Amino acid sequence: MSRILVVDDEPELREFVAMSLELNEYETVEAENGKKALEILKSEDFDCIVSDVEMPEMTGPEFLKKFREINKVIPVIMLTGVKALNTVVEVMKLGAQDYLVKPINIDELLIAVRKSIEFKRLKDQNIRLQKENERYQHHLEDMVEKRSIQLKDALFGSLIIIASAIEAKDEYTKGHSNRVRLISLDIGKLMNLDNKELQVLEYGAMMHDVGKIGVKDAILQKNKSLTEEEFDSIMSHPAVGANIVKNISFFGPMADCIKYHHEKFGGGGYPDGIKGERIPLLARIVAVADTYDAITTTRPYRKEKTSNEAVQVLLEGRGTQFDPYIVDVFVNNRLYEKDYISKDKIESEAGMIKPSTIILDDEKSFDEIIKPKKNNDEPYIYDEL
Ligand SMILES: [Fe+2]
Repeated sequence: MSRILVVDDEPELREFVAMSLELNEYETVEAENGKKALEILKSEDFDCIVSDVEMPEMTGPEFLKKFREINKVIPVIMLTGVKALNTVVEVMKLGAQDYLVKPINIDELLIAVRKSIEFKRLKDQNIRLQKENERYQHHLEDMVEKRSIQLKDALFGSLIIIASAIEAKDEYTKGHSNRVRLISLDIGKLMNLDNKELQVLEYGAMMHDVGKIGVKDAILQKNKSLTEEEFDSIMSHPAVGANIVKNISFFGPMADCIKYHHEKFGGGGYPDGIKGERIPLLARIVAVADTYDAITTTRPYRKEKTSNEAVQVLLEGRGTQFDPYIVDVFVNNRLYEKDYISKDKIESEAGMIKPSTIILDDEKSFDEIIKPKKNNDEPYIYDEL
C-alpha cells in the first residue's frame, strides 16, 4: 500500500484530504506544518507528499526547498489557493511534482497522486537499474582484468615454449632469449621507455631469434667456419622471424624488433643494411643485449668471455655496430655487473619466467613506435649470430 504524507495547517482540510486518500486505499500520515513534516520524514518513508503552500512557521515552498536538499525522489504535490497562484512557478522550480488549486477536487487529487506515485516508481526503478548497471560494469571490469592476466600469462607461456624450441636446437643458447629479455628490459627502463614500448621490447627481445626455427640444427651447432650458403641461411633468421610474427595480431608489433636486431648503427648489418635512427629503437636495444649475452656465454664456435671483455666489445662497437647512447646506458649504469645468467637459471628452474609489463591494448601505437623510417641498400658485414 502506498504511503502519503499530508501536510496542512488547517485540520479540516488536512483530515479531508487524508480521509479521501484512505478511502482509495492509500495509507496516510498527517503533519500540521513543514517543520513537523521534516521531522517525520527523517524516520519514515513515503511514496508521495501532499503539502499546503501557505502555512505558519514554515511555508510550503520553504519546506519543499529544505526537503529537496535531502531527497530528490519523493514527489511533492502542492496545494495552493487562488491568491497564491504566483507561487506555482516558484514551487515547480523548487522541485514540486505537481500542484492543485483549492478548493480541492478529489478526482483531480487522486489523478495527481496516482501520476506522482507512478513517476516515483519509474524513478526508483531507474535508480535501481543504474545501480545494477554499475555493479555489472564493475563485475565486467573485474572479469576483463582477470582474463587479461590469464591471457597475458598464456601468451607469455607460448613465448617461453617458442624460445625453448629455438634454444633446444642449439644447447649453447639455452636461456639466451630470456637473458636478452632481462637485459633489454633493464636498458629500456633506464631509458624511461613508456609501458607500451617496454612491452613490445620485452616480448620482442624474448622472440628475437624466433626465425632460427627455420635454420638447420647442423648449421646452428657447427663449430667450424660456415659456407656462404650456411651464412645466408643463418642470416635469414631476422627476416624469417619477422615474417612468422608479422601477421599474428598479438606478436605483430614485435616484427620490426625481431627483423632489425642484427642491423648495425653505422650501417652494414642485415637484413636491410639500414643505419642510425632508421633502425627501430627497440631493435637497437635488443642488438646490445643480444651481443652482450652472446659474448658472455659459450657458443659452438668460441668460448665465453668475461663481462669486462664483453663491455670492451660494446665500447669498440659504440657508434659503428651499436647505438652509442644505448651502450652508454648499459655501461654507465654498470648493467654488466648484474648476474643475468643466474637470474635466468633461478627463474627458469622455478618456472617463474613471467612478463613484467602490461598486456598489449593498442596495437596501432606499437607500429608507430617501431617502424623504421627508410631502408637502404648498404651491404652487410657479418658479425655475431
Ligand atoms: Fe639473432
